[in-house]
Amino acid sequence: MKVLLDNVGKKYEGRENFTLRHIDLEIEDKDFCVILGPSGCGKSTLLRMIAGLNSITEGDLIFGDRRVNKVPSKDRDIAMVFQSYALYPHMTVYDNMAFSLAMRKEPKKLIHERVMEAAKVLQIENYLYSKPSDISGGQRQRVALGRAMVRKPKVFLMDEPLSNLDAKLREHMRVELVKLHKALETTSIYVTHDQVEAMTMATKIVLMDGGKIQQVGKPEDFYNRPENVFVAKFIGSPTMNLVEGKMRGGKFVSDDGAITLNPSDADAQKLKEYENKSIIVGIRSERFITENMTENILDCTLDIVELLGKEKTIYARYSNGKTFVVTIPGHLQFKVGDNYKLAFDKEALHFFDGETNLRIN
Ligand SMILES: Nc1ncnc2c1ncn2[C@@H]1O[C@H](COP(=O)(O)OP(=O)(O)OP(=O)(O)O)[C@@H](O)[C@H]1O
Ligand SMILES: [Mg+2]
Repeated sequence: MKVLLDNVGKKYEGRENFTLRHIDLEIEDKDFCVILGPSGCGKSTLLRMIAGLNSITEGDLIFGDRRVNKVPSKDRDIAMVFQSYALYPHMTVYDNMAFSLAMRKEPKKLIHERVMEAAKVLQIENYLYSKPSDISGGQRQRVALGRAMVRKPKVFLMDEPLSNLDAKLREHMRVELVKLHKALETTSIYVTHDQVEAMTMATKIVLMDGGKIQQVGKPEDFYNRPENVFVAKFIGSPTMNLVEGKMRGGKFVSDDGAITLNPSDADAQKLKEYENKSIIVGIRSERFITENMTENILDCTLDIVELLGKEKTIYARYSNGKTFVVTIPGHLQFKVGDNYKLAFDKEALHFFDGETNLRIN
C-alpha cells in the first residue's frame, strides 16, 4: 500500500516548537523506505504518527487513497516492530506470535497456519515452545518480526529493530530483512541512525535533520549527489573532505590560499555565477589521485596511516596543518612523515553554495 505524507507536522503538547514540520513524502507500494538521521531528529516521532501512536498536529496522512489521520492504530492495517522487542516474557514464542490474532478471535486453524508460515520464513520453528528468556537476542528479534508478520499488515513499521544486536548478527539480520521484504513485498518503513543499514537495505532513503527532510532518494544518489553539506557529511565513511573558499577567475581558491583547483568543464559552467562568492568544495577520500597526476596537485606530509586490510586510510597534511582523509589500495607503500603529492580528481568534486549550503547543480 502507498503511504503519503502531505505537509505533516508535529508539535508535542507543552513544547514551544514543532518537532517536525513540512514533511512531504511519498512512499510507493512495496518500497523499503528507510528514515535515517541523527539522534533526536524526529524519526521515531514520524514513524509513530504513521503508526497512529502519536497524534498528527497538521497535514494529511494518506494510506492508499484514504486519509487516516484520525483512524485508530488498530484499524490502520499496520504492524510495528520496536527496538526493545517487547515480547511477553511468560508466553512461549508460539503464543507471542499468535497473540494478536487470538485477540482478534481468529479461528485456531488460521492462527496456526500463520504462525507456522512465519516461523518457517524466519527459521524459528525449532524453539516455538521456548520462552523468550531462553533464546538469543537475534532469535527474539525474529520472534518480534514474526509477531508482526502473522497479521499480514499492509505496512510494516520498524523502529531501530537491530540496534540491540551485536555487529555480526546485525549484518546477518540486514540480509535476512532484505530477503524477507523481497518475499513478502509489504511496504516497509524502517527507522535507523545507521547509514550502513540505510544504504544496504533501502529502496528509498529519507534523511532527516532538525525535524526536516534533507534529502529523499535512492541510496546511490546520497553518495554521488548529496543535495547539501549536511547530507555530504552524514553519508559516507570516512566523512567527505570539505574545504571553504571562493571562486576566483574560474578557479576554486581555498580561504587559506593553500589550494587552487580547476573545476571540470561541466562544473565550470555551473560555477560561472559564483565568481567571488563563497563556495564549499567536497571530495570523497577515495577520489584522490596518487599516480600519473597532471593538475590540481597538492604537496602533503603523511600524518597517520591506518591499515584496514584491502585499503589504507591516510591523513595527508598540507601546508597550513590541515589534513585530508585519503583512501588508497592497501598494497601501496606510504610511510608516516613522508612528503608526497596528491591530486584531486576533478570529475569527482562536489560544489556547495557557501551561503545556503545547497549543492550547486
Ligand atoms: N512524548 C514526547 N513529548 C515531548 N517531546 C517529545 C516526545 N517524544 C519525543 N519528543 C522530542 O521530540 C524530538 C524528536 O524525538 P524522536 O524520538 O522522534 O527522535 P529520534 O530521531 O527517534 O531519536 P533517536 O535516534 O534518539 O531515537 C526530541 O527532541 C524529543 O525530545
Ligand atoms: Mg527514535
